[in-house]
Amino acid sequence: MSAWPLRNLVLRTPRLELRPDDDEGLYELVDVALAGVHDPSEMPFYVPWTDNLPNDNGMSMLQHYWGTRAKFAAKDWVINFLVRRDGEVIGTQQIGARDFGVLREVNTGSWLGQSFQGNGFGTEMRIAVLQFAFDHLAARIARSAAWLGNHASTRVSEKLGYVHDGTVGVAPRGERLEHVRLRLDAADFVRPEWDVSVENLAECVQLITS
Ligand SMILES: CC(C)(COP(=O)(O)OP(=O)(O)OC[C@H]1O[C@@H](n2cnc3c(N)ncnc32)[C@H](O)[C@@H]1OP(=O)(O)O)[C@@H](O)C(=O)NCCC(=O)NCCS
Repeated sequence: MSAWPLRNLVLRTPRLELRPDDDEGLYELVDVALAGVHDPSEMPFYVPWTDNLPNDNGMSMLQHYWGTRAKFAAKDWVINFLVRRDGEVIGTQQIGARDFGVLREVNTGSWLGQSFQGNGFGTEMRIAVLQFAFDHLAARIARSAAWLGNHASTRVSEKLGYVHDGTVGVAPRGERLEHVRLRLDAADFVRPEWDVSVENLAECVQLITS
């Protein structure tokens, strides 16, 4: 087994390439974030990390992703896929699980640079990790969540077959916001006409499905 078994993992969709993050790619991701992720009057994330970007030029964002990679463990992992179109980083699609071998559940989260939004990429990258989870890891349930007013994220979930699964209150900017929890069972997944291609999973499949 390689010292970093995720190193060569690649997911490919018709327009996108997803690879676990590396430092060069993260620097590109920081530039994408600095150019803008969402309307500054709104906060779509649990942790208001985008509010801090102008203060530190993305250093704490970088440290967050390093932290996620550093804490990667068989029974509690998050893969932060950098999403590229024509070789250029446009955003990130995360997938994670705890006790996957028992629960067969994954969680996902994502964002794209503002200038890349609204072109179907968010849907395509979510499908990529859903097919990865259901078809290649034998997951049974995928979960997500979005602020009630996040129409794009909620729409992506709903068109892929997720159902509402309650709400949770969060306060990223010190005021209560309601987030909707979303749940997709494998059998309810509304599939596209294409299949994601997955390369070099053999090197890490045992680690993430144990
Ligand atoms: C959420 C996000 C990843 C979605 O990616 P995207 O590429 O913009 O999404 P897509 O183009 O694939 O699909 C968006 C869907 O929402 C719809 N939509 C977008 N804005 C909408 C609005 N204000 N009201 C209703 N529907 C809306 C689009 O029409 C599209 O649906 P359709 O395919 O049926 O037409 C992206 O918008 C993003 O990064 N947003 C900022 C960060 C964020 O909110 N991350 C998620 C936190 S939970």
